[in-house]
Amino acid sequence: MRLRNVPNAREIVNNSDYVIKEPQELKGKYKEVFKNDNPLHIEIGMGKGNFIIDMALKHPEINFIGIERYESVMCRALEKLEGKEISNLKLICMDASLLGEVFDKEVDTIYLNFSDPWPKKRHAKRRLTSNVFLPIYDQIFKDECLIIQKTDNVGLFESSIVSLSTYGYVIEDISLDLANKEIENSLTEYEAKFMSQGTKINYLKARKK
Ligand SMILES: C[S@@+](CC[C@H](N)C(=O)[O-])C[C@H]1O[C@@H](n2cnc3c(N)ncnc32)[C@H](O)[C@@H]1O
Repeated sequence: MRLRNVPNAREIVNNSDYVIKEPQELKGKYKEVFKNDNPLHIEIGMGKGNFIIDMALKHPEINFIGIERYESVMCRALEKLEGKEISNLKLICMDASLLGEVFDKEVDTIYLNFSDPWPKKRHAKRRLTSNVFLPIYDQIFKDECLIIQKTDNVGLFESSIVSLSTYGYVIEDISLDLANKEIENSLTEYEAKFMSQGTKINYLKARKK
């Protein structure tokens, strides 16, 4: 993700009603945040927000939280949300390593879209499907664990399949060319760019009971 420096990014993020400022204080209480009992889906590394905004608009029966670690990136999503009132969408600016401090057995689905691939072996633990992150996800999933991943990066995709399978996930759906799969799909910014270049997108849906 190329970072555009937004000088007042922190102020913009802190002033937005979409952004949850002290998420640790809401651990276990997201039903109260959304004022309903609907399922909770989160996207880790939401970038500029296209996917999570589109999903929230298409699925008012689901609550969505977008997680992004950089305020300057989150600002781009907030620009898209200006003037919109989407009651089933919230955003949190934080690193995914802190998810266990913020959610307590209340997440139904995690989306990992075009996550940073960390191709070097010595950085493998930073991948969001590594065995560093999968135990963190165990802490926040409600009953079953459901991870949906999209990526252009074959190395990340292969390592995710190995890591998820080794950790007890069953890959229940997979595609090496998402554009030619009949499935409801909301595009991310990266995905739109890759698709326009003819790059094939890998997709998987993995579940652990
Ligand atoms: C390659 S971009 C993809 C953005 C978006 N999902 C898309 O498909 O257009 C990866 C994004 O994930 C964010 N990210 C990477 N690691 C993260 C982490 N550990 N916690 C939170 N966000 C993270 C980055 O800041 C970046 O915005």
